[in-house]
Amino acid sequence: MAGKVYLETFGCQMNELDSELVTGQLRALGYRFTPDAHQADVVLYNTCSVREHAEQKVWSRLGELAIRKATDPGLVVGVLGCMAEREGGALMKRMPVVDLMVGPAELDKLPALLDNALRTRASLLADGRVLGEAGEGGVRRLTSAGQVALAGSSSRRSSTLAAAGDQLEMLDLSRAVSPDDHSGSAYVRITRGCNKFCTYCVVPHTRGAEVHRPPEHIIDECKRLADAGVVEVTLLGQTVNHYRFEHGAQVSVGGVVQPQKGRVYKRTDEHTDAYAGQNVTTFAGLLRRIHEEVPGILRLRFVTSYPRSFGNDVLEVIRASPRVCRYLHVPAQSGSDRLLSMMNRGYSVGEYLEFLDRARAFLHEPELGRPLTVAGDIIVGFPSETEADHEATKALLLRTRYKNCFIFKYSSRPGTVAHEKLADDVPEDVKRRRNGELLEVQNLVSAEVSAEYLGREVTAFVQGVSRREQKKTKRAESLAKAVAVNGAGIGAVALTISASGRGDVRARAAEVAGDGADACSVHGAHTEADAGVSAGPVQMSARTDGDLIVLFDAHAGDAAGMIGQIVRVRIESTTALALHGAMAGQG
Ligand code: 5AD
Ligand code: SF4
Repeated sequence: MAGKVYLETFGCQMNELDSELVTGQLRALGYRFTPDAHQADVVLYNTCSVREHAEQKVWSRLGELAIRKATDPGLVVGVLGCMAEREGGALMKRMPVVDLMVGPAELDKLPALLDNALRTRASLLADGRVLGEAGEGGVRRLTSAGQVALAGSSSRRSSTLAAAGDQLEMLDLSRAVSPDDHSGSAYVRITRGCNKFCTYCVVPHTRGAEVHRPPEHIIDECKRLADAGVVEVTLLGQTVNHYRFEHGAQVSVGGVVQPQKGRVYKRTDEHTDAYAGQNVTTFAGLLRRIHEEVPGILRLRFVTSYPRSFGNDVLEVIRASPRVCRYLHVPAQSGSDRLLSMMNRGYSVGEYLEFLDRARAFLHEPELGRPLTVAGDIIVGFPSETEADHEATKALLLRTRYKNCFIFKYSSRPGTVAHEKLADDVPEDVKRRRNGELLEVQNLVSAEVSAEYLGREVTAFVQGVSRREQKKTKRAESLAKAVAVNGAGIGAVALTISASGRGDVRARAAEVAGDGADACSVHGAHTEADAGVSAGPVQMSARTDGDLIVLFDAHAGDAAGMIGQIVRVRIESTTALALHGAMAGQG
């Protein structure tokens, strides 16, 4: 029993990939998708629990749906992902509008639960049970009969994450790859879960213990993506450098090799390939194999790296593999040893910096056009953070020279050690001020990092039209509507890229162009005054292999065909957020 589905994703890249896999699975079963929640019979939220703010957004969406469902009792509402895992039954109690919940480790069960929910809903509607009586203001309320029947589905949500791993592998394996439906770029999961238990973090609680996918599955997925025309692959894991698969210990169920549990890392594993000669695929081995066996992937990246247990073997593979991007996302979280210890990160500031120095010694070769770029994450306002700790973090940002850094205000998450044991005692206004100060320092550093590209030619993967261009298109569209309403016809308006067809691919790529592309409206050569009716140049947003944003103009007629391609751009001006240039040729 298929319906029209609206699926909204919150949070990280792992969630984006989960949503893509779930979409593929539901599509194969005949479900259609709509970008408009109001048109949908099924509304699904794939949620994130890392910070409270992300959860609040979902609560407010659910509140809106509760109002809608009162007059539209056929609507089915599902909460997927980390909130479903973290909140469990409490979420359904607080929000009776929710019909089904599926934690991240059980997404493979979504089609069955959804089918069940739709059938139950249809039969209850047929015999009138969900209609109930009119409530206040004539609004219909659901009877508990409808709720109980559907809430029953949620009891299939298990909390045994590790046990569910096997089934989940099938979800990744079932990935539908179509040449017509990708943006040239794709995520591939290599590990799930996390064993680190940083004291502030819910991920080990919601995504469970670390498991590593069999290398053959990962390589096969990369091959299928490359065959479908994908040129950029980002390997995903919470701590990718911990990847390790022991072939001697591999287990098959029903002919399918199963993922393996991660292990505790010893300090002796730090800088060397401790498994050389053993029948083990390490992260370095996996990278090497993908690079060798899937040459169609022109850019291979990985996120996120943990600053410890990052061996020279991985750095050597990156150095020897031209299609592996010299880019690391390696969060430090704080510049204070005291806080790093309270966070249970397992390294000191000195050790973190030693790692960066080592990585740069191997990989930073700007004179050969192969710089290493590094991005970080920082948590500001962790319990007990003093001005001295904060100053230490500022100093760290000057020393790390990240190309960008995600700075998060500490958010106390129930279930974590920090929530249970440490008072969230840095006042909100202090967190906000420190957040601003760190952003300021990082902006200076980012501007300097960008400036190093001035006058150079870079290769850049074209993601879509820039955000400024999207705004222009939107304005032109509303103008077109206004013209149409006035009876003057729509033909007078030449829409830029949205008029030239690559369907889904184009829409998704434009979305991906995301945040930093916004820089163009602040720093770009063009002004918003020229927004609107134009068949002239279109500003495109692309990324260097080091993940720097590149903005350049393309002819309107060439723009759509460029998306998902690699081009060469000569950099003419730079800002903290982006490099601006002119196209110098195909990559
Ligand atoms: N509060 C604020 N930021 C957090 N992160 C993880 N947990 C929290 C939290 N409780 C940040 C870390 C991590 C990124 C994905 O989210 O910086 O690297
Ligand atoms: Fe969370 Fe730490 Fe694991 Fe990253 S390494 S997912 S911050 S517990």
